[in-house]
Amino acid sequence: MAVDMVLKDGIFIENGRETIRSVAIESGKIEGIYKHGDEPQYRKSIDCRGFYILPGLIDIHVHLRDFKQSDKEDYETGTMAAAAGGVTTVVDMPNSDPPVLDKKILDEKIARAQESRYVNVGFYAGIPNNIEDFDVQMLRDILGLKVYPNSPLDKAAKYTKDRIRECTKLAVASEIPLLFHPDLPAREKVPKDMEEFFLAHSCEDEVKSVQSFIDAKIEYAARLHVCHVSCAATARLIYDNRAEDTLTAEVSPHHLFLSGGDFANDDGLAKMLPPLRSPYDNKMLMEALCKTCAIDCVASDHAPHKKWEKTAPFLKASSGIPGLETTLPLMLTEVFEKRLAWIDYLRICSSAPARILGLETKGILTKGYDADIVLAQIQEGTITGEKFFSKAKITPFEGRRVLARTVTTIVGGEIVFDEGEFVTGPGIVGQAPVQKS
Ligand code: DOR
Ligand code: ZN
Ligand code: ZN
Repeated sequence: MAVDMVLKDGIFIENGRETIRSVAIESGKIEGIYKHGDEPQYRKSIDCRGFYILPGLIDIHVHLRDFKQSDKEDYETGTMAAAAGGVTTVVDMPNSDPPVLDKKILDEKIARAQESRYVNVGFYAGIPNNIEDFDVQMLRDILGLKVYPNSPLDKAAKYTKDRIRECTKLAVASEIPLLFHPDLPAREKVPKDMEEFFLAHSCEDEVKSVQSFIDAKIEYAARLHVCHVSCAATARLIYDNRAEDTLTAEVSPHHLFLSGGDFANDDGLAKMLPPLRSPYDNKMLMEALCKTCAIDCVASDHAPHKKWEKTAPFLKASSGIPGLETTLPLMLTEVFEKRLAWIDYLRICSSAPARILGLETKGILTKGYDADIVLAQIQEGTITGEKFFSKAKITPFEGRRVLARTVTTIVGGEIVFDEGEFVTGPGIVGQAPVQKS
């Protein structure tokens, strides 16, 4: 019997080495991996000679906005950016306007994403100030609980030691991971200069915050995930407490490849939280990711803002940068320039994020797994924000030389993006939200 599609004779990574293989797809799943000449009959095929056949990226930290912030991004443009960036699954953060603190908003988000998405979308929820108000009905549709000690989703919440313990207990009872933005609760006064801003988000505070969550994680045997680690000292603390599958962590490409000194002092373009650190931190974060495995994966922290919000002077500018269209070219450039082994690339971009969130049929190209695939090519180019599908087009990576591009993105066996164009409308087949297997 003929399969739906065969991706023929592409460069496929097997046991960490490049080889030539064909990938057969049937009913949205990978039917098998074949040597040249052994492929089954097919209804459609793509000649993949010269293209890498890779698992789509799984980005477990994105802000797709929508609702009252649709001028920054919405589910359509955000997931177009994902597809164009070779990202086949995104998990959306709850700090939208309105925030995800109840089932009504979550359901509205799911419905909106379902009709306008180009890739798989999963969700997180926040925790209301009164923890008893947390609606357990949400658990079926979320992949984790997210907390922001520095700017709580429920403005009344104060991230004291007790609150951290209560949130941790809720995650344990809910049998899902607790994710957190590592930073201490905001001080009363607004930073009046750059020095005060950086002092208010120091590495020392990042470490203290992670320690306080680790303490609660140990006390209640919770599953804890540390978002966007930015400091060498934080990576060290995670290393000292590492525990496979109960303490996991991510790093964003900007914290791997950029440092504060690369930008003029008053430039809002590279303002994000946590802020950029030093070249030493860059180096130690890369080591934590690829040598010691203290950090499990990369996640873009795609945080779109409007142009005027990013061109404002540093203290007034909004924090956050778009990242969905830069992760793949940046990470594959590391591979092609031989600073990153294929085996590490596959783990940190696809299989580890799937494992962290319990997505058991995603993140690996093997028989029976979801056919979420990206065809990529070696091609020299430069990062150009104006070409982004995201509404946010200002990136601190502007002009950076990269050696790779996304050619085709396949989601659940369906070709979504091909040679710079979208070949399906929004609302692709399959279900939103992505759920735990
Ligand atoms: O820079 C950031 N932007 N850090 C965050 O934690 C939030 C994000 C946003 O939503 O804009
Ligand atoms: Zn954050
Ligand atoms: Zn974020």
